[in-house]
Amino acid sequence: MTQIAAIILAAGKGTRMKSDLHKVLHPVAGRPMLMHLMASVDALAPEKKVVVVGSGKAQLEEALAGSAELALQEPQHGTGHAVQMAHGALSGFDGDVLILYGDVPFVPTATMQAMIDRLNADDAPAVVVLAFEPGDPTGYGRVIVEGAKGQERIVKMVEQKDASAAEKAVKLSNSGLMAVKAADLFALLARVTNDNAQKEYYLTDIVNIANSDGRRCVAVTTDPFDVAGINSRAQLAEMEGEWQKRRRIQAMDGGATLIAPETVWFAYDTVLGRDVLIEPNVFFGPGVSVADNAKIRAYCHIEGAMIGEGCEVGPFARLRPGTVLEEKAKVGNFVEVKNAALGQGAKANHLSYIGDATVGAKANIGAGTITCNYDGYFKYQTVIGEGAFIGSNSALIAPVKIGRDAIVAAGSAVTRDVADGELRLVRAEQSVKPGWADRFHDAMRRKKEGKG
Ligand code: UD1
Ligand code: MG
Repeated sequence: MTQIAAIILAAGKGTRMKSDLHKVLHPVAGRPMLMHLMASVDALAPEKKVVVVGSGKAQLEEALAGSAELALQEPQHGTGHAVQMAHGALSGFDGDVLILYGDVPFVPTATMQAMIDRLNADDAPAVVVLAFEPGDPTGYGRVIVEGAKGQERIVKMVEQKDASAAEKAVKLSNSGLMAVKAADLFALLARVTNDNAQKEYYLTDIVNIANSDGRRCVAVTTDPFDVAGINSRAQLAEMEGEWQKRRRIQAMDGGATLIAPETVWFAYDTVLGRDVLIEPNVFFGPGVSVADNAKIRAYCHIEGAMIGEGCEVGPFARLRPGTVLEEKAKVGNFVEVKNAALGQGAKANHLSYIGDATVGAKANIGAGTITCNYDGYFKYQTVIGEGAFIGSNSALIAPVKIGRDAIVAAGSAVTRDVADGELRLVRAEQSVKPGWADRFHDAMRRKKEGKG
């Protein structure tokens, strides 16, 4: 087994994005596209990863947080020049190099592995090119192959702008991704010139140079989705849609029921158990797991939440990061939960905010209950004991503890701890005036009719 290094090109200007955020950091399914790619690469356990960057270096540095090296390409003189910029970072490395594009995020690990395997096959090709057949190849470099089926070799790589009419008629296109042995790669690159229509150093020319040395170069062909690039916001949305389509099918294959799959949006890391039911119009942000038999009802927005077995959420619930719902807990309509745990079978069925709180098993949070967790400067905790009953429209002013089996009367504003088993009632004494309203209405009616 040879070692693998990945060079990820990301020095292009990304002008079509019209963004202050680096193109490869735009998210799909809640994760920057570059990180989707990195996750696929990481499954190959690469020895080294080098990201070639131009402008926006600081943003990439922050996003990568030391997980890859950065090589600067400034100015940008083409894909061949970009790969050369990684030479220093790979000095001493003599394994297989995978060349990837940061804006081509959904290359499966299996495809990368297939490229590496092809590179190490008995016929020892100099370069493996990842090719595909798009519906319309306009704009792509073309891969010209010859030879009997199964024995094809690439005879020429040609960019759209340099192609003849006959070459333009070829559909097989260059994804841009390649696998090359490190020693071959940098020796071939050193011979690439910029004598072409764009005056750029084309990476593709290493194939033409290897051919002229009498070496064999071959293509591995893949599904267009796997090598689709993202250059504009429209393409970003298109890829998001395509990704979601696949994820929904995967969710259903995994045993979840989606009533209207096209209205459910998953994050890259959403985990779903068996027999989960998801009603229409549900959005999952990152960090959500849903255990078996849970029901997510219509119109919920959920992120950073752990939803236990048999829980019921929504309709119209919002679960924010740090939410933990233990088995069979229920969060109903217009309830927001943030950084709070609801114990087994606890219920908050209507119109509540539960933030920075722990709610014991079987506790019942009445309609309109608010944990007042913030004073404008600091956040405070609310702890509600097992089996406690919080009456409707209560304000629990944190920090505050409500004891086990305690009852808080409806409409209470609780500022001091409530002991186990206690009733806390925080309301003004009621004054009762029989007949007062009738007398008031009579008097006012007479006044209005001028008889008063
Ligand atoms: C390149 C290929 C083309 C292929 C196409 C697939 C070459 C010469 N052409 O074309 O055959 O069909 O990709 O999309 O390789 N980049 C740098 N530095 C540079 C130039 C580019 O880092 O100086 C990066 C870009 O950020 C991008 C990738 O390389 O991730 C491809 O650049 P792009 O300009 O899109 O390549 P094309 O010219 O379209
Ligand atoms: Mg270009």
